[in-house]
Amino acid sequence: MIATGLLLTSLFTLGLSKPVARSLRLHEARSTIPTGFSHVRSADADTVLNLRLGLVSSNVDQLVETLYDVSTPSSQNYGQHLSRSEAAAFLSPSSESLEAVNAWLNENNLTAQSISPAGDWLAISVPVSQANEMLDADFSVFTHEATGVQSIRALQYSIPTDLAGHLQLVHPTTTFTQPTSPKLPLNAKRVSASAMEKRQSSCSGNVDPACLQELYGIPTTAAANADPIVVTGYDDQYPSNTDMSDFLSQYRTDIASSTTWTIVELDGGSDDPSDPGDEANLDVQYTVGLATGVPVYFISVGENANDGVFGFLDTVNYVLSNLSDAYVVTTSYGSNEADISTGVFSKLCDAYASLGTAGISVLFASGDGGVSGSQSSSCTDFVPTFPSGCPYVTSVGATTGTSPETAADFSSGGFSNVYATPSFQTSAVSSYLSYLGSTNSGLYNTSGRGFPDVSTQGENFLIGYEGSFYTVSGTSCSSPTFASVVALLNDKLLSAGKSRLGWLNPWLYENSGALNDVTSGDNPGCSTNGFTATTGWDPVTGLGTPNFAALLTAAGV
Ligand SMILES: *[C@@H]1O[C@H](CO)[C@@H](O)[C@H](O)[C@H]1NC(C)=O
Ligand SMILES: *[C@@H]1O[C@H](CO)[C@@H](O)[C@H](O)[C@H]1NC(C)=O
Ligand SMILES: *[C@@H]1O[C@H](CO)[C@@H](O)[C@H](O)[C@H]1NC(C)=O
Repeated sequence: MIATGLLLTSLFTLGLSKPVARSLRLHEARSTIPTGFSHVRSADADTVLNLRLGLVSSNVDQLVETLYDVSTPSSQNYGQHLSRSEAAAFLSPSSESLEAVNAWLNENNLTAQSISPAGDWLAISVPVSQANEMLDADFSVFTHEATGVQSIRALQYSIPTDLAGHLQLVHPTTTFTQPTSPKLPLNAKRVSASAMEKRQSSCSGNVDPACLQELYGIPTTAAANADPIVVTGYDDQYPSNTDMSDFLSQYRTDIASSTTWTIVELDGGSDDPSDPGDEANLDVQYTVGLATGVPVYFISVGENANDGVFGFLDTVNYVLSNLSDAYVVTTSYGSNEADISTGVFSKLCDAYASLGTAGISVLFASGDGGVSGSQSSSCTDFVPTFPSGCPYVTSVGATTGTSPETAADFSSGGFSNVYATPSFQTSAVSSYLSYLGSTNSGLYNTSGRGFPDVSTQGENFLIGYEGSFYTVSGTSCSSPTFASVVALLNDKLLSAGKSRLGWLNPWLYENSGALNDVTSGDNPGCSTNGFTATTGWDPVTGLGTPNFAALLTAAGV
């Protein structure tokens, strides 16, 4: 009897022309509209949304285990990085997940397109009315008050109950990024010729490549075996050849002023030399101009990124599938962790883990708002930045001055609310928390991943821009500087027949003595003095600034 009943039910289901409504369960929600945005109205029913479905990757645990295995110096498999396709394969969804999600889409007459090398991201185009029904959502128009830019988001959505464990997230829904991501040069000041002439050595005044080479012992001779550095660029920013040539003629008289980079265009990115960007110029001038002899790619990510997170998702897939010779990636953009849905952050962070497993070092600027976030803002609780909270990126903070180097007061640092303290830094973080005692108690997450990991100079960097010279400040200066150091270390390692550094963090924390410890300064914000730099790791300057010779020794060369 029971068997017959079941059979009848399933035949009945198959015979329906419309799918039975699936039972839905709330999947992601935000309790409030993020600060700076306001709700305008429900979105028009027939507006077509381009949504991305992030499928659960079947082997994240194994990915992370492999990442640690190939990146921890004491491990037998240290340096045995996987190929990019092997590393990406950990992110693939199971065939059950793929079938379950596709079956749901088919019932709704939707066809998905795979948009990541591992197949864990699918793209669909769907009218608002149908998306609202499928996800029990109210897709609405929101305005970013400062810019007037509108976007369609949902404050909450549900997914079919039986897709739990298969479908990790639907995006963009609850992620609200600022339409313009932080452009980090804090204070661009025009520098007169006489000020340049008076520049002191050792980065005690304005900073140029020569003083960084001197301060950190960075080689000035050309790399012999270097792989390219990838500089990522957003916000319609491109570097200028003439500004580069001015910069090199002034500050790297020992190399050809015609030294250049390769631009690659993604998501409609372009290259408009008549409209260069200060951030793009800075990032390229302090890679081309500091990592001597190292080729540089500039990825121009355009406005068709549509990935709801500046283009970071598209960038990581592009590096994995299209830039097979690059092993160091630096990004001077970011935002606040709370703006990004946990689901999206977690998918992106897993993707950074796959880059690390393939031997690629991923560096990000930590942010320019001290403890108040990526940019200075009013706050009560401290604001961790994105994506520095991901343990698989190396977050770079800023210092200033030379005798001794001290924390730059804007250097973002703190503790993630999403990722727990990873094993490579538990001892460093617990020492710092003991030192801190009850200071700032309740304002930050004592169990979070601490950042930044390292730092470099970040104030008064001289750049060529629109035919003259400026100084700029920010952790934007620091990430390309540290990336250049890593590329030059990789060059020496490859020349010695050794493998690249790959994911840096376990190696850095095991060799903290190879960094110059920065023990003074702080990063104020939220009406506090923020955190204070001290002996050992701190959430202002990380482990410290690079000492090239000591890092080389630590790497076994
Ligand atoms: C899918 O298409 C079929 C045939 O055109 C139609 O009968 C059905 O109602 C559609 N289903 C949905 C959910 O739009
Ligand atoms: C990147 O590589 C993929 C796979 O090889 C290719 O389909 C795609 O067109 C490439 N993208 C760009 C922007 O070149
Ligand atoms: C603190 O961080 C942990 C991860 O380590 C997280 O699970 C928890 O939700 C965070 N607490 C708050 C208040 O955000």
